Amino acid sequence: MCGIVGYVGPRQAVDVVVSGLKRLEYRGYDSAGVAIVTADGLDTRKKAGKLANLQTIIAGDPMSLSSTGIGHTRWATHGGPTDANAHPHVSDDGTVAVIHNGIIENFAELREELTNLGIQLNSETDTEVVAHLLQIVLPSVDGDLSEAMRRVCRRLSGAFTLVAVVAEHPDVVVAARRNSPLVVGRGEGENFLASDVSAFIEYTRNAIELGQDQVVCITPSDITITDFDGNPAATVEFEVTWDAAAAERGGYELFMLKEIAEQPKAVADTLLGRMKDNRLNLDELRISEQELRNIKKIVVIACGTAYHAGMIAKYAIEHWTRIPCEVELASEFRYRDPIVSSETLVIAISQSGETMDTIMALRHAKDQGAKVLAICNTRGATIPRDSDAVLYTNAGPEIAVASTKAFLTQVVAAYLVGLYLAQVHGTKYADEISDVLAQLADMPRRIDLVLDTTEHVRKIAHELRDAKSVLFIGRHVGYPVALEGALKLKELAYMHAEGFAAGELKHGPIALLEEGMPVIVVVPPKTGRDVLHEKIVSNIQEVRARGARTIVIAEEGDESVVPYANDIIRIPESPTLLQPLLATIPLQILACAMATAKGYDVDMPRNLAKSVTVE
Ligand code: M6R
Repeated sequence: MCGIVGYVGPRQAVDVVVSGLKRLEYRGYDSAGVAIVTADGLDTRKKAGKLANLQTIIAGDPMSLSSTGIGHTRWATHGGPTDANAHPHVSDDGTVAVIHNGIIENFAELREELTNLGIQLNSETDTEVVAHLLQIVLPSVDGDLSEAMRRVCRRLSGAFTLVAVVAEHPDVVVAARRNSPLVVGRGEGENFLASDVSAFIEYTRNAIELGQDQVVCITPSDITITDFDGNPAATVEFEVTWDAAAAERGGYELFMLKEIAEQPKAVADTLLGRMKDNRLNLDELRISEQELRNIKKIVVIACGTAYHAGMIAKYAIEHWTRIPCEVELASEFRYRDPIVSSETLVIAISQSGETMDTIMALRHAKDQGAKVLAICNTRGATIPRDSDAVLYTNAGPEIAVASTKAFLTQVVAAYLVGLYLAQVHGTKYADEISDVLAQLADMPRRIDLVLDTTEHVRKIAHELRDAKSVLFIGRHVGYPVALEGALKLKELAYMHAEGFAAGELKHGPIALLEEGMPVIVVVPPKTGRDVLHEKIVSNIQEVRARGARTIVIAEEGDESVVPYANDIIRIPESPTLLQPLLATIPLQILACAMATAKGYDVDMPRNLAKSVTVE
C-alpha cells in the first residue's frame, strides 16, 4: 500500500516522479504528493484524491527545474484522506521532506516527545514524526542524511519504507526499508527508487532488491547501501524481464480488461519450460528432492484471491500426492498456534509478494522449522526472498486492483508444485503427470474460447446491475470459484455477494432466497465425477423452485442444466480439476461489467489498494 518514487539525475525530476506515480497509483489513491529540491529549497505539492488532482495543481502552477525529487501515492492508515495528511511531510523548518509506506507503531510516543520539544505537528499521520526527527538529528551528523536516516530508523518500530530529501543536498535521495517494499533502479547517470519496478521501467531495467533494515543513498552516479548500523550491505541485482508496454493499458479501456484478455498468455508463460527429458523440472525451486520427500504435511497460506487459488490447489495436491493439505488465511494462521514442523511444507501464495499478513504468516511458519515455498508473481519481493524456495508465476505486471491473471497462474503454479511432489513421492506415474501437463498446456486455447463469451456475460451483467444481492454456488473446486466470483463482485460492484458450497445451502443460506434473486452456479464437468454433477443439478432445481434467477456456467453440450437455467454461460470441456481455469473467467467479466454499468472505477475500487502491506 502506498506507492513511492525517488529520482536523481539529469531529467526534470517532477516529470519522472509523476510518471512513476501514475504507474504506482494502483497501490493507493487516497492522495498524492511530490517534493523536489530546488535552488531555493524544497518545493512540495500535495492533494487529497487521485493523482489527477495533483497533476491539475502542478499544471496550474508548474514546478521549477530540479534534478531531485520524491513522490507518493497514499492508501490511508493514520489519518483520513485529506490534503494535510497527504505525503510528503515536511520538517518544522521546511528543510526535510519525507514520504512513507507502512506503519510506524511507536509514533504516538515519538509524537509526544516532539510536542514536548515545542514542535507543532500538522497532520494526523505517523509519518510526520520522521521528518521532524531527521531535522533534529541532521546537525549532529554534519548534515549526512544517510546517517541521520539510520539513527532515526533505529528508533522506529513497525513496517516502513521511508524516502527523504533535504534542501541542502540537491543531488541526494535517501531511503530506508523494513518490511515494506523498495527497489532501486540503476540508470546511466541517474538513479531511481520505487515501491516496484514499474515506476522506472521506462528508464532502466537494472534493479537492485533492498534487504531488510537497509538504508540506500542514491546520487546521479552512485548507489550506497548499508544496514541500519552503517555497515555495507549485501544486495541482489536483477534485470526486469518485461518492458514498459506491459505496464500500460495497451489500447484497453481498463487494466482489468487487458489483464483478463492476457490470461491465455499468462497461463502459457507460467507453464513454459517446466518439462525436461519427459520429467517435470522446477529448477527455480531451492528445496532438494530429498527434503521434499520428507514432507508429511502441506499448509497453504494466502489472502483474498490468492487464498481461493490455494483452496483449489488443495483438491489437486491431496488427490495427486496423498499428502494432507490444509489451506488457511494468512491473517488467521499468523496468530494461531498451528501444528507445523520441519516435515511441513508451507506454500505462501501471493501476487505482489508484499502482503503483510502472508509475510508474517510465513515467518511464523519458518520460526517453527517449516520449509516455505513461495508462489509469487513479483521477482525480488519480500515473500520469495524470505522463503526457502520460489516458483514464479509469469503473469507479467498485474495493475488492476482486482486480481485476474494472477489467480489463474497461481492455480497453475500450485498444480505444478502438486505434480512435482507427486513425482518426487512416486504417487503418480510419469505418464499420468505428462497427461495432466498436456491438459494444462491446452488450457490457453480453451481460455481463449471462454473469452468469446464476453458479450453474452456483459448482457447478463447489465440485466443484473440492480440486484440487491447475488449468490454464487459450486461444489469441489467449483466452491472456491464461487467464493472468487463473489469476492470480485463485492470489491468491484460494491454489491452484497456470497459464495457457498452448494451442499451447504440447505443448512441455512437457502433462507436468503427471494423471488428473482440471482444465483450463479458453477456446474462441474458431466464427464468428471458424475455424482458432483448430479448433485449440483439438484441444487439448481432447489434454488429455482424458491424463485431464484439461475445463471449457470456449464460445459458445452451439457443439456441436463437447460430446463433449470434462466441463463447459461458455456465453457469448453475440461477435466474437473482444471475447470476453475475456465469457470472463473465469466465471473471476472461479470464483476467488471457490473461495476462499469454502475459507473464505478473498476481499476481502483474504493477503500482498496493492490498490495496490502499493512496487517
Ligand atoms: O498480492 P497478494 O496476492 O498477496 O494479494 C492478496 C489479496 O490482497 C488479493 O488477492 C485481493 O484479494 C485482490 N484484490 C482480489 O481481487
